[in-house]
Amino acid sequence: MKSGKYVSKVPDSTGYIEYTKEENAIWADLVSRQKSILPGLVCDAYRHGLDVLKLPEDRVPQLKDIGQVLKRETNFDVEPVPALISPHKFFSLLANRKFPAATFIRTREEFDYLQEPDIFHEIWGHCPMLTHQTYTDFMQKYGELALSLDEKYIWMLQRLFWFTVEFGLIKESGAKTPKIYGAGIVSSAGESPYAVHSDVPSRKHFDILDVFRTPYRIDIFQTVYFMIESFDELYDVVRTDLVPVMEKALEKGMHPPTFPPKGA
Ligand SMILES: [Fe+2]
Repeated sequence: MKSGKYVSKVPDSTGYIEYTKEENAIWADLVSRQKSILPGLVCDAYRHGLDVLKLPEDRVPQLKDIGQVLKRETNFDVEPVPALISPHKFFSLLANRKFPAATFIRTREEFDYLQEPDIFHEIWGHCPMLTHQTYTDFMQKYGELALSLDEKYIWMLQRLFWFTVEFGLIKESGAKTPKIYGAGIVSSAGESPYAVHSDVPSRKHFDILDVFRTPYRIDIFQTVYFMIESFDELYDVVRTDLVPVMEKALEKGMHPPTFPPKGA
């Protein structure tokens, strides 16, 4: 299946996905750059996840190997998918404790940034957090919740995903700075130090009503981050009835964007 210029790779009958020498070299260079940037910036759960996964650094990891570790740790799994899947398929996989992962890797021309998630983002960004039990329970409940809600609310639930799973920060007790757990940040060389240290973005305490009211752009560094205090906080949110909160967000209206419109 094709999405833009990238073609997703299909596993063979044993689940093995073939990568070229150049693709493996791109992985190695991405890992080496992130490893030099991330110390002091990421949360304990992410660091622990990286330790547990023991990702190869000289070649693209095999999703089936990662799946084995995740199953052992949290009974989660990763599922290779085409670059674009329907929201229904995405939510169903999460509800079944499977994380959908695109299999292609970016080219050198898009080494620093690409809009669609590639396997570096999926593995380096998402998989370490999938070794954390409460975080994976949140992911499952999020998927179940999305499947149970009227479609008219889904865009707000996508904001929850964006400001947590993709761009979430956590305030760990005793730490002087917030730490990263969001996959979109931790897989970006530029946004990792920016999210933690820059004076430009605002960092707000996580509040679900506020999240539902906050717009975002996918193609720029974020202008707003939400900080949780623990992963229990996320799990508790998806166990409550969110429809009244979403209705309240609609009633109060959306916050004005804190970023310029696309193309401006
Ligand atoms: Fe992602």
